[in-house]
Amino acid sequence: MLVSVIGVGHVGLVTAACMADLGHDVVGFDVDGQKIELLRTGAVPFVEAGLAELVEAGVRAGRLEFTADVAEAVRAAEVVFICVGTPRRPDGAPNMSFVQSAAATVASHAQRPAVVAEKSTVPVQTGERIRQALRLQSQARGGGLVHDVVSNPEFLREGTAVADTLRPDRIVVGADSERGHAVMRALYAPLLARHDCPYVATDVRTAELIKHASNAFLATKISFINAVARICELAGANVHTIADAMGYDARIGRAFLNAGVGYGGSCFPKDVEAFIHIAQELGYDFGMLRETDRINREAKAWPVAQLRRLVWNLADKQIAVLGIAFKPGTDDVRDAPALDVIDALLAEGATVRLHDPVALDHVRERYPDAVFCDKAEDALRGAHAVVVCTEWDEYRAITPQRLAELLTYPVVVDARAVWDARALADAGLSVAVVGQPPLSPAGT
Ligand code: UDX
Repeated sequence: MLVSVIGVGHVGLVTAACMADLGHDVVGFDVDGQKIELLRTGAVPFVEAGLAELVEAGVRAGRLEFTADVAEAVRAAEVVFICVGTPRRPDGAPNMSFVQSAAATVASHAQRPAVVAEKSTVPVQTGERIRQALRLQSQARGGGLVHDVVSNPEFLREGTAVADTLRPDRIVVGADSERGHAVMRALYAPLLARHDCPYVATDVRTAELIKHASNAFLATKISFINAVARICELAGANVHTIADAMGYDARIGRAFLNAGVGYGGSCFPKDVEAFIHIAQELGYDFGMLRETDRINREAKAWPVAQLRRLVWNLADKQIAVLGIAFKPGTDDVRDAPALDVIDALLAEGATVRLHDPVALDHVRERYPDAVFCDKAEDALRGAHAVVVCTEWDEYRAITPQRLAELLTYPVVVDARAVWDARALADAGLSVAVVGQPPLSPAGT
Protein backbone atom coordinates (compact mmCIF):
# COMPACT_ATOMS: atom_id res chain seq x y z
CA MET A 1 0.00 0.00 0.00
CA LEU A 2 1.06 3.61 -0.41
CA VAL A 3 1.78 5.05 3.02
CA SER A 4 2.84 8.51 3.98
CA VAL A 5 4.18 9.61 7.36
CA ILE A 6 3.96 13.26 8.38
CA GLY A 7 6.64 14.05 10.94
CA VAL A 8 9.63 11.70 11.08
CA GLY A 9 10.65 12.16 14.71
CA HIS A 10 11.09 9.14 16.94
CA VAL A 11 7.61 7.69 16.46
CA GLY A 12 7.27 8.76 12.82
CA LEU A 13 10.60 7.38 11.68
CA VAL A 14 10.08 4.05 13.41
CA THR A 15 6.58 3.84 11.91
CA ALA A 16 7.88 4.66 8.43
CA ALA A 17 10.75 2.17 8.58
CA CYS A 18 8.55 -0.61 9.97
CA MET A 19 5.81 -0.02 7.37
CA ALA A 20 8.46 -0.32 4.65
CA ASP A 21 9.73 -3.50 6.28
CA LEU A 22 6.18 -4.89 6.04
CA GLY A 23 6.33 -4.35 2.28
CA HIS A 24 4.49 -1.04 1.92
CA ASP A 25 5.76 1.90 -0.15
CA VAL A 26 6.44 4.67 2.30
CA VAL A 27 7.22 8.37 2.00
CA GLY A 28 8.34 10.21 5.13
CA PHE A 29 7.87 13.98 5.31
CA ASP A 30 9.26 16.46 7.80
CA VAL A 31 9.39 20.27 7.91
CA ASP A 32 13.01 19.97 9.04
CA GLY A 33 14.84 19.93 5.71
CA GLN A 34 18.18 19.14 7.37
CA LYS A 35 16.72 16.03 8.94
CA ILE A 36 15.39 14.91 5.56
CA GLU A 37 18.82 15.40 3.99
CA LEU A 38 20.39 13.37 6.76
CA LEU A 39 17.85 10.55 6.40
CA ARG A 40 18.44 10.43 2.67
CA THR A 41 22.09 9.64 3.35
CA GLY A 42 20.92 6.67 5.41
CA ALA A 43 21.82 8.23 8.78
CA VAL A 44 19.39 8.21 11.73
CA PRO A 45 19.43 11.35 13.91
CA PHE A 46 18.97 9.57 17.29
CA VAL A 47 19.94 6.36 19.06
CA GLU A 48 17.41 3.55 18.51
CA ALA A 49 18.41 -0.12 18.35
CA GLY A 50 17.96 -1.68 14.90
CA LEU A 51 16.44 1.43 13.32
CA ALA A 52 19.41 2.49 11.16
CA GLU A 53 19.53 -0.99 9.59
CA LEU A 54 15.81 -0.92 8.88
CA VAL A 55 15.94 2.57 7.33
CA GLU A 56 18.91 1.58 5.22
CA ALA A 57 17.21 -1.61 4.02
CA GLY A 58 14.00 0.27 3.18
CA VAL A 59 15.84 2.95 1.22
CA ARG A 60 17.93 0.35 -0.62
CA ALA A 61 14.84 -1.64 -1.55
CA GLY A 62 13.22 1.55 -2.89
CA ARG A 63 10.32 1.20 -0.45
CA LEU A 64 11.28 4.09 1.83
CA GLU A 65 11.76 7.66 0.66
CA PHE A 66 12.05 10.97 2.44
CA THR A 67 10.92 14.35 1.21
CA ALA A 68 10.62 17.92 2.44
CA ASP A 69 7.80 18.50 -0.05
CA VAL A 70 4.53 17.72 1.70
CA ALA A 71 2.46 17.75 -1.49
CA GLU A 72 4.67 15.01 -2.92
CA ALA A 73 4.36 13.05 0.32
CA VAL A 74 0.57 12.92 0.51
CA ARG A 75 -0.58 13.19 -3.11
CA ALA A 76 -1.12 9.49 -3.77
CA ALA A 77 -1.20 8.10 -0.21
CA GLU A 78 -3.79 5.54 0.83
CA VAL A 79 -2.85 5.88 4.50
CA VAL A 80 -1.36 9.02 6.04
CA PHE A 81 0.09 8.70 9.53
CA ILE A 82 0.14 11.90 11.54
CA CYS A 83 3.21 11.70 13.76
CA VAL A 84 3.85 15.38 14.50
CA GLY A 85 4.66 16.68 17.97
CA THR A 86 2.03 17.69 20.52
CA PRO A 87 4.21 19.80 22.87
CA ARG A 88 2.68 20.67 26.20
CA ARG A 89 1.40 24.14 26.84
CA PRO A 90 2.02 25.84 30.21
CA ASP A 91 -1.40 24.64 31.49
CA GLY A 92 -0.51 20.97 30.79
CA ALA A 93 -2.76 20.65 27.73
CA PRO A 94 -1.09 19.51 24.52
CA ASN A 95 -0.60 22.03 21.74
CA MET A 96 -2.56 20.53 18.85
CA SER A 97 -1.74 23.10 16.20
CA PHE A 98 0.75 20.82 14.38
CA VAL A 99 -1.87 18.08 14.20
CA GLN A 100 -4.43 20.49 12.79
CA SER A 101 -2.07 21.82 10.14
CA ALA A 102 -1.01 18.27 9.20
CA ALA A 103 -4.68 17.42 8.61
CA ALA A 104 -5.22 20.57 6.55
CA THR A 105 -2.15 19.71 4.49
CA VAL A 106 -3.54 16.28 3.65
CA ALA A 107 -6.84 17.80 2.50
CA SER A 108 -4.95 20.40 0.44
CA HIS A 109 -2.82 17.95 -1.52
CA ALA A 110 -4.46 14.52 -1.50
CA GLN A 111 -5.67 13.36 -4.89
CA ARG A 112 -7.61 10.36 -3.60
CA PRO A 113 -9.61 9.66 -0.45
CA ALA A 114 -7.06 8.84 2.24
CA VAL A 115 -7.25 7.17 5.62
CA VAL A 116 -5.72 9.64 8.04
CA ALA A 117 -4.32 7.81 11.05
CA GLU A 118 -3.50 9.53 14.34
CA LYS A 119 -0.28 8.14 15.77
CA SER A 120 0.70 11.10 17.91
CA THR A 121 -0.75 10.72 21.40
CA VAL A 122 -3.77 12.98 21.38
CA PRO A 123 -6.65 13.78 23.73
CA VAL A 124 -9.91 11.92 23.25
CA GLN A 125 -12.14 13.55 20.62
CA THR A 126 -9.19 14.74 18.53
CA GLY A 127 -10.44 12.44 15.77
CA GLU A 128 -13.52 14.61 15.36
CA ARG A 129 -11.36 17.73 15.20
CA ILE A 130 -9.18 16.15 12.52
CA ARG A 131 -12.24 15.14 10.54
CA GLN A 132 -13.50 18.72 10.77
CA ALA A 133 -10.12 20.15 9.69
CA LEU A 134 -10.07 17.77 6.70
CA ARG A 135 -13.61 18.68 5.72
CA LEU A 136 -13.07 22.44 5.98
CA GLN A 137 -9.89 22.32 3.93
CA SER A 138 -11.44 20.01 1.31
CA GLN A 139 -14.35 22.43 0.98
CA ALA A 140 -11.97 25.41 0.77
CA ARG A 141 -10.23 23.59 -2.06
CA GLY A 142 -13.59 23.06 -3.74
CA GLY A 143 -13.02 19.31 -3.82
CA GLY A 144 -15.36 16.53 -2.92
CA LEU A 145 -12.85 14.09 -1.45
CA VAL A 146 -13.96 12.53 1.83
CA HIS A 147 -11.14 11.23 3.98
CA ASP A 148 -11.50 8.73 6.82
CA VAL A 149 -9.96 9.32 10.23
CA VAL A 150 -8.66 6.50 12.39
CA SER A 151 -6.82 6.34 15.69
CA ASN A 152 -3.93 3.88 15.69
CA PRO A 153 -1.94 4.54 18.87
CA GLU A 154 1.60 3.24 19.21
CA PHE A 155 2.94 1.66 22.36
CA LEU A 156 6.60 1.73 21.44
CA ARG A 157 9.28 2.34 24.03
CA GLU A 158 12.43 4.18 23.12
CA GLY A 159 15.32 1.74 22.88
CA THR A 160 13.04 -1.15 21.84
CA ALA A 161 10.85 0.82 19.44
CA VAL A 162 11.46 -1.37 16.38
CA ALA A 163 10.72 -4.62 18.21
CA ASP A 164 7.69 -3.04 19.92
CA THR A 165 6.33 -2.02 16.51
CA LEU A 166 7.03 -5.20 14.57
CA ARG A 167 6.18 -7.57 17.42
CA PRO A 168 3.59 -5.61 19.41
CA ASP A 169 1.60 -6.91 22.40
CA ARG A 170 -1.50 -5.67 20.60
CA ILE A 171 -2.61 -3.51 17.71
CA VAL A 172 -5.33 -0.95 18.41
CA VAL A 173 -7.34 0.58 15.60
CA GLY A 174 -10.23 2.94 16.22
CA ALA A 175 -12.37 3.83 13.21
CA ASP A 176 -15.90 5.10 12.75
CA SER A 177 -16.27 3.82 9.17
CA GLU A 178 -16.09 0.40 7.53
CA ARG A 179 -13.59 1.68 5.03
CA GLY A 180 -11.30 2.94 7.79
CA HIS A 181 -11.30 -0.49 9.43
CA ALA A 182 -10.86 -2.35 6.14
CA VAL A 183 -7.86 -0.27 5.03
CA MET A 184 -6.12 -0.59 8.40
CA ARG A 185 -6.70 -4.36 8.45
CA ALA A 186 -5.08 -4.62 5.05
CA LEU A 187 -2.20 -2.42 6.22
CA TYR A 188 -1.48 -4.68 9.20
CA ALA A 189 -2.12 -7.98 7.40
CA PRO A 190 1.60 -8.57 6.65
CA LEU A 191 2.49 -7.93 10.31
CA LEU A 192 -0.22 -10.26 11.61
CA ALA A 193 0.97 -12.95 9.19
CA ARG A 194 4.41 -12.80 10.83
CA HIS A 195 3.42 -12.17 14.40
CA ASP A 196 0.14 -13.20 15.95
CA CYS A 197 -1.21 -10.68 18.45
CA PRO A 198 -4.58 -9.32 19.58
CA TYR A 199 -6.08 -6.81 17.15
CA VAL A 200 -8.45 -4.47 18.95
CA ALA A 201 -10.87 -2.90 16.51
CA THR A 202 -12.96 -0.18 18.12
CA ASP A 203 -14.27 3.34 17.61
CA VAL A 204 -11.98 6.36 17.38
CA ARG A 205 -12.68 7.76 20.87
CA THR A 206 -12.09 4.45 22.61
CA ALA A 207 -8.78 3.98 20.78
CA GLU A 208 -7.67 7.48 21.77
CA LEU A 209 -8.46 6.73 25.39
CA ILE A 210 -6.69 3.34 25.31
CA LYS A 211 -3.42 5.14 24.72
CA HIS A 212 -3.83 7.70 27.51
CA ALA A 213 -5.20 5.11 29.93
CA SER A 214 -2.27 2.73 29.23
CA ASN A 215 0.45 5.33 29.72
CA ALA A 216 -1.23 6.90 32.75
CA PHE A 217 -1.60 3.46 34.34
CA LEU A 218 2.08 2.61 33.84
CA ALA A 219 3.11 6.01 35.22
CA THR A 220 0.86 5.40 38.23
CA LYS A 221 2.49 2.02 38.80
CA ILE A 222 5.88 3.75 38.94
CA SER A 223 4.63 6.46 41.31
CA PHE A 224 3.05 3.82 43.51
CA ILE A 225 6.34 1.99 43.97
CA ASN A 226 8.19 5.27 44.47
CA ALA A 227 5.79 6.12 47.30
CA VAL A 228 6.42 2.68 48.81
CA ALA A 229 10.16 3.42 48.44
CA ARG A 230 9.78 6.50 50.69
CA ILE A 231 8.04 4.36 53.31
CA CYS A 232 10.80 1.73 53.08
CA GLU A 233 13.47 4.38 53.67
CA LEU A 234 11.60 5.55 56.79
CA ALA A 235 10.67 2.10 58.08
CA GLY A 236 13.93 0.28 57.34
CA ALA A 237 12.67 -2.08 54.63
CA ASN A 238 13.75 -2.88 51.07
CA VAL A 239 11.46 -1.76 48.22
CA HIS A 240 13.19 -3.92 45.61
CA THR A 241 12.40 -7.13 47.48
CA ILE A 242 8.84 -5.88 47.95
CA ALA A 243 8.54 -5.25 44.18
CA ASP A 244 9.88 -8.74 43.43
CA ALA A 245 7.42 -10.34 45.81
CA MET A 246 4.50 -8.27 44.52
CA GLY A 247 5.52 -9.09 40.95
CA TYR A 248 5.13 -12.84 41.49
CA ASP A 249 1.39 -12.16 41.71
CA ALA A 250 0.29 -12.53 38.09
CA ARG A 251 -2.43 -9.95 38.69
CA ILE A 252 0.22 -7.34 39.52
CA GLY A 253 3.30 -8.29 37.48
CA ARG A 254 6.88 -7.15 38.12
CA ALA A 255 7.20 -4.74 35.16
CA PHE A 256 7.23 -1.01 35.94
CA LEU A 257 7.75 -1.56 39.65
CA ASN A 258 11.33 -0.30 39.69
CA ALA A 259 11.58 2.49 42.25
CA GLY A 260 13.90 5.23 41.04
CA VAL A 261 14.21 8.91 40.38
CA GLY A 262 10.78 9.19 38.74
CA TYR A 263 9.56 8.69 35.21
CA GLY A 264 10.78 10.96 32.43
CA GLY A 265 10.89 10.91 28.65
CA SER A 266 8.71 12.38 25.98
CA CYS A 267 5.55 10.47 26.93
CA PHE A 268 4.69 9.74 30.55
CA PRO A 269 5.08 13.23 32.07
CA LYS A 270 3.29 14.87 29.16
CA ASP A 271 0.58 12.22 28.81
CA VAL A 272 -0.26 12.23 32.52
CA GLU A 273 -0.68 16.01 32.48
CA ALA A 274 -2.69 15.89 29.27
CA PHE A 275 -4.99 13.18 30.63
CA ILE A 276 -5.63 15.21 33.79
CA HIS A 277 -6.41 18.18 31.60
CA ILE A 278 -8.77 16.45 29.17
CA ALA A 279 -10.60 14.76 32.08
CA GLN A 280 -11.04 18.19 33.66
CA GLU A 281 -12.39 19.59 30.42
CA LEU A 282 -14.88 16.72 30.22
CA GLY A 283 -15.98 17.44 33.78
CA TYR A 284 -14.06 14.78 35.76
CA ASP A 285 -11.40 15.55 38.37
CA PHE A 286 -8.77 12.79 37.94
CA GLY A 287 -7.33 13.28 41.41
CA MET A 288 -5.44 9.98 41.34
CA LEU A 289 -3.37 11.15 38.38
CA ARG A 290 -2.64 14.48 40.04
CA GLU A 291 -1.15 12.44 42.88
CA THR A 292 0.83 10.30 40.39
CA ASP A 293 2.33 13.51 39.04
CA ARG A 294 3.03 14.91 42.53
CA ILE A 295 4.81 11.73 43.65
CA ASN A 296 6.89 11.86 40.48
CA ARG A 297 8.01 15.41 41.27
CA GLU A 298 8.88 14.26 44.79
CA ALA A 299 10.93 11.36 43.33
CA LYS A 300 12.92 13.77 41.18
CA ALA A 301 13.70 15.92 44.25
CA TRP A 302 14.81 12.91 46.36
CA PRO A 303 18.51 12.78 45.30
CA VAL A 304 19.28 16.39 46.17
CA ALA A 305 17.49 16.08 49.52
CA GLN A 306 19.77 13.08 50.25
CA LEU A 307 22.88 14.98 49.18
CA ARG A 308 21.93 17.84 51.50
CA ARG A 309 21.52 15.39 54.36
CA LEU A 310 24.82 13.63 53.70
CA VAL A 311 27.02 16.52 52.55
CA TRP A 312 25.21 19.47 54.22
CA ASN A 313 25.95 22.61 52.18
CA LEU A 314 26.21 21.91 48.47
CA ALA A 315 27.62 25.32 47.48
CA ASP A 316 31.10 24.93 45.98
CA LYS A 317 30.91 21.14 46.18
CA GLN A 318 31.70 19.01 43.15
CA ILE A 319 28.93 16.51 42.49
CA ALA A 320 29.32 13.69 39.96
CA VAL A 321 26.08 12.95 38.12
CA LEU A 322 26.12 9.55 36.41
CA GLY A 323 23.48 9.18 33.68
CA ILE A 324 21.56 11.99 31.97
CA ALA A 325 19.29 10.11 29.50
CA PHE A 326 15.78 9.51 30.87
CA LYS A 327 16.49 5.76 30.80
CA PRO A 328 19.25 3.47 29.50
CA GLY A 329 19.38 2.53 25.82
CA THR A 330 18.54 6.00 24.52
CA ASP A 331 20.22 9.41 24.17
CA ASP A 332 16.89 11.17 24.78
CA VAL A 333 17.00 13.77 27.56
CA ARG A 334 13.45 15.08 27.19
CA ASP A 335 12.00 15.49 30.69
CA ALA A 336 14.88 13.39 32.02
CA PRO A 337 14.84 13.38 35.84
CA ALA A 338 18.63 14.02 35.75
CA LEU A 339 17.90 17.52 34.45
CA ASP A 340 15.83 18.31 37.56
CA VAL A 341 18.65 16.97 39.73
CA ILE A 342 21.30 19.02 37.91
CA ASP A 343 19.15 22.18 37.96
CA ALA A 344 18.65 21.82 41.71
CA LEU A 345 22.39 21.24 42.29
CA LEU A 346 23.32 24.30 40.25
CA ALA A 347 20.71 26.39 42.10
CA GLU A 348 22.50 25.48 45.34
CA GLY A 349 25.86 26.59 43.93
CA ALA A 350 27.36 23.14 43.34
CA THR A 351 29.57 22.27 40.38
CA VAL A 352 28.34 19.28 38.39
CA ARG A 353 30.60 16.69 36.78
CA LEU A 354 28.44 14.95 34.17
CA HIS A 355 28.76 11.54 32.55
CA ASP A 356 26.47 9.65 30.18
CA PRO A 357 27.62 7.16 27.53
CA VAL A 358 25.51 8.71 24.76
CA ALA A 359 23.52 11.77 25.89
CA LEU A 360 26.17 14.37 26.87
CA ASP A 361 26.00 16.27 23.59
CA HIS A 362 22.33 17.04 24.21
CA VAL A 363 23.05 19.01 27.40
CA ARG A 364 26.25 20.87 26.52
CA GLU A 365 24.39 24.05 25.64
CA ARG A 366 22.03 23.84 28.58
CA TYR A 367 24.89 23.54 31.10
CA PRO A 368 27.78 25.68 29.84
CA ASP A 369 29.56 25.60 33.23
CA ALA A 370 29.32 21.85 33.84
CA VAL A 371 32.33 19.58 33.62
CA PHE A 372 31.65 17.04 30.83
CA CYS A 373 33.37 13.70 31.32
CA ASP A 374 33.78 11.03 28.65
CA LYS A 375 34.41 8.36 31.27
CA ALA A 376 32.44 7.74 34.47
CA GLU A 377 35.71 7.54 36.41
CA ASP A 378 36.63 11.07 35.30
CA ALA A 379 33.34 12.37 36.72
CA LEU A 380 33.94 10.55 40.00
CA ARG A 381 37.58 11.54 40.46
CA GLY A 382 37.73 14.33 43.02
CA ALA A 383 33.94 14.70 43.34
CA HIS A 384 32.56 15.23 46.84
CA ALA A 385 29.65 12.91 46.14
CA VAL A 386 28.04 10.92 43.35
CA VAL A 387 24.41 10.64 42.34
CA VAL A 388 23.23 7.99 39.86
CA CYS A 389 20.27 9.10 37.72
CA THR A 390 20.25 6.48 34.90
CA GLU A 391 20.90 2.77 35.39
CA TRP A 392 23.44 2.23 32.60
CA ASP A 393 25.03 -1.22 32.92
CA GLU A 394 28.55 0.18 32.94
CA TYR A 395 27.88 1.84 36.31
CA ARG A 396 27.07 -1.52 37.89
CA ALA A 397 30.62 -2.62 37.06
CA ILE A 398 32.21 0.12 39.22
CA THR A 399 33.22 -1.50 42.51
CA PRO A 400 32.60 0.06 45.95
CA GLN A 401 36.37 0.06 46.53
CA ARG A 402 36.94 2.04 43.32
CA LEU A 403 34.22 4.53 44.32
CA ALA A 404 35.86 4.99 47.70
CA GLU A 405 39.23 5.62 46.03
CA LEU A 406 37.93 8.15 43.53
CA LEU A 407 35.55 10.26 45.63
CA THR A 408 36.81 13.09 47.87
CA TYR A 409 33.98 12.56 50.36
CA PRO A 410 32.66 9.00 50.69
CA VAL A 411 29.07 9.88 49.75
CA VAL A 412 26.87 7.90 47.33
CA VAL A 413 23.28 8.70 46.37
CA ASP A 414 22.04 5.88 44.17
CA ALA A 415 18.64 6.88 42.80
CA ARG A 416 18.43 3.81 40.50
CA ALA A 417 19.68 1.12 42.86
CA VAL A 418 22.58 0.07 40.62
CA TRP A 419 24.83 -0.76 43.57
CA ASP A 420 24.53 -2.97 46.63
CA ALA A 421 24.00 -0.68 49.63
CA ARG A 422 25.62 -3.03 52.15
CA ALA A 423 28.74 -3.50 50.00
CA LEU A 424 29.07 0.27 49.65
CA ALA A 425 28.80 0.83 53.40
CA ASP A 426 31.32 -1.97 54.01
CA ALA A 427 33.74 -0.12 51.72
CA GLY A 428 33.44 2.93 54.00
CA LEU A 429 30.87 4.92 52.05
CA SER A 430 27.83 6.78 53.40
CA VAL A 431 24.96 5.60 51.29
CA ALA A 432 21.43 6.53 50.25
CA VAL A 433 20.01 3.92 47.88
CA VAL A 434 16.45 4.54 46.72
CA GLY A 435 13.93 2.48 48.66
CA GLN A 436 16.33 1.28 51.36
CA PRO A 437 17.22 2.69 54.75
CA PRO A 438 20.28 5.00 54.67
CA LEU A 439 23.52 3.23 55.63
CA SER A 440 26.75 4.59 57.11
CA PRO A 441 30.07 2.79 57.40
CA ALA A 442 30.39 0.73 60.58
CA GLY A 443 31.51 2.83 63.55
CA THR A 444 30.41 6.24 62.19
C1 UDX B 1 6.63 4.86 27.26
C2 UDX B 1 5.69 3.65 27.19
O1 UDX B 1 6.31 2.53 27.83
C3 UDX B 1 5.34 3.31 25.76
O2 UDX B 1 4.41 2.26 25.70
C4 UDX B 1 4.74 4.57 25.09
O3 UDX B 1 4.44 4.33 23.75
C5 UDX B 1 5.70 5.74 25.21
O4 UDX B 1 6.02 5.96 26.59
P1 UDX B 1 9.23 5.32 26.94
O5 UDX B 1 8.94 6.75 27.25
O6 UDX B 1 10.14 4.99 25.80
O7 UDX B 1 7.87 4.51 26.66
O8 UDX B 1 9.92 4.70 28.25
P2 UDX B 1 9.59 3.63 29.37
O9 UDX B 1 10.49 2.47 29.20
O10 UDX B 1 8.16 3.34 29.48
O11 UDX B 1 10.06 4.44 30.67
C6 UDX B 1 9.51 5.71 31.00
C7 UDX B 1 10.15 6.26 32.25
O12 UDX B 1 9.75 5.52 33.38
C8 UDX B 1 11.68 6.24 32.26
O13 UDX B 1 12.15 7.46 32.80
C9 UDX B 1 12.02 5.07 33.14
O14 UDX B 1 13.26 5.21 33.79
C10 UDX B 1 10.88 5.14 34.15
N1 UDX B 1 10.60 3.84 34.78
C11 UDX B 1 10.14 2.80 34.03
C12 UDX B 1 10.80 3.70 36.15
O15 UDX B 1 11.22 4.65 36.85
N2 UDX B 1 10.50 2.50 36.72
C13 UDX B 1 10.04 1.45 36.03
O16 UDX B 1 9.79 0.40 36.64
C14 UDX B 1 9.85 1.60 34.62
